[in-house]
Amino acid sequence: MAATISIGLAGLGNVGAGVYKNLERNGDLLAERTGHRFEVVRVAVRDLGKARDVEVPAARLTTDWRDLVADPAIQVIVELIGGVTEAHELVKSALEAGKIVITGNKALLAEHGHELIALAEKMDVPLYFEAAVAGGIPIIKSVREALVGNHILAIYGIINGTSNFILTQMARRGIDYRTALAEAQARGYAEADPALDVNGWDAAHKAIILAWLSYGLWVRPNEIVVDGIENVSAADIRLAATLGYTIKLLGVVRLHEDRRIEVRVQPTLIPSSHILASVNDVFNAVVVHGDIVGETLFYGSGAGQNATSSAVIADLADAAHNLAKNPGCQGFLPSGYYGQAVTVDETVSPYYIRLRVEDRPGVIAQVTSVIARHDIGLSSLVQPKVEGGGPADLMLMMHAAPFGRMRAALGELEKLSCVTEKPILMRVENFA
Ligand code: HSE
Repeated sequence: MAATISIGLAGLGNVGAGVYKNLERNGDLLAERTGHRFEVVRVAVRDLGKARDVEVPAARLTTDWRDLVADPAIQVIVELIGGVTEAHELVKSALEAGKIVITGNKALLAEHGHELIALAEKMDVPLYFEAAVAGGIPIIKSVREALVGNHILAIYGIINGTSNFILTQMARRGIDYRTALAEAQARGYAEADPALDVNGWDAAHKAIILAWLSYGLWVRPNEIVVDGIENVSAADIRLAATLGYTIKLLGVVRLHEDRRIEVRVQPTLIPSSHILASVNDVFNAVVVHGDIVGETLFYGSGAGQNATSSAVIADLADAAHNLAKNPGCQGFLPSGYYGQAVTVDETVSPYYIRLRVEDRPGVIAQVTSVIARHDIGLSSLVQPKVEGGGPADLMLMMHAAPFGRMRAALGELEKLSCVTEKPILMRVENFA
């Protein structure tokens, strides 16, 4: 007879409904594999009257997540309400009540992970979060368990599906950002308020979690570089393609030789021949580079009901194992002996700059003299042909330089009288 695990589910949105549905769908398989049946005994929702695509018996529903925490029969709380303030209170109270917690909330972990992991350790209960990073891709388990014998040298990849969909459509069809965003919303990929998806912060929260997992260091949100895709234009995508590059919103977590950690999320030009350039639409892909294993690549659906609920269900299986065989075991916890975060200005990479300039003699000389003064090397300069006169675009590819120096040069370029619009600057990553 399979023992039953009693679950309190907080949040019955897209992912919550997926967990409920898929636990029913694959309940027999899970019982065979884990020796447990998983029963959602209480569900906290905001609105009891809301129409949903899962049928939950009315007696199980409540509008107060405190009912879940207070129920002594509930062993595991699954937090899928999103947001930070209330989710923080919920996760804290559930851990304090000695319950195992599973969350998919990356913003919560990025802001309060330090305190919540410490609380879980103190209470001797695990806190699981496979669904918080890259949806259905088992990246947390892979880094934490499968690659435990490696120093992680770098993790980089595409970790936001919505922005990847938008960039893919812009590149394929030459459409502009607004049109591609509207399409992502119509297909239900982007949230009604897609701010965190397109401003880079959803990916940044995931990068912060991956950095902690790899290095035991909770990098603070204000210590990292985060730019979104809002200012990426169809023109830049087209111009980058002529140079053999594809623009992706790239998350990078990298260990420096002095043991400091670089974390950044920015639209980045990557070689079109690199495998990440073929990761399209809402897919995610993450490269993990370990000192023993070398490079490994994880690819899959980074968002969506089924993919993300698959990750939550894997955490439920771990919770069942923990309860039955290994109470209190936290799994492998990252060790915290690595240093601090690298400042933005110290991060080094090559760059792409697009300048809109007056089309007159002497302009290129002015531009290149600013760059030379900041001791930055220019690897190529292209002036695409413009029909009918008017301002011209200059496309500059710069050799690797610290961002601080590049920023200073950009500030001067912007002030030149021949430059007619705010310059566009993007990083280039050659993965050398
Ligand atoms: N909205 C996210 C994405 C999924 O588009 O990747 C949840 O983090």
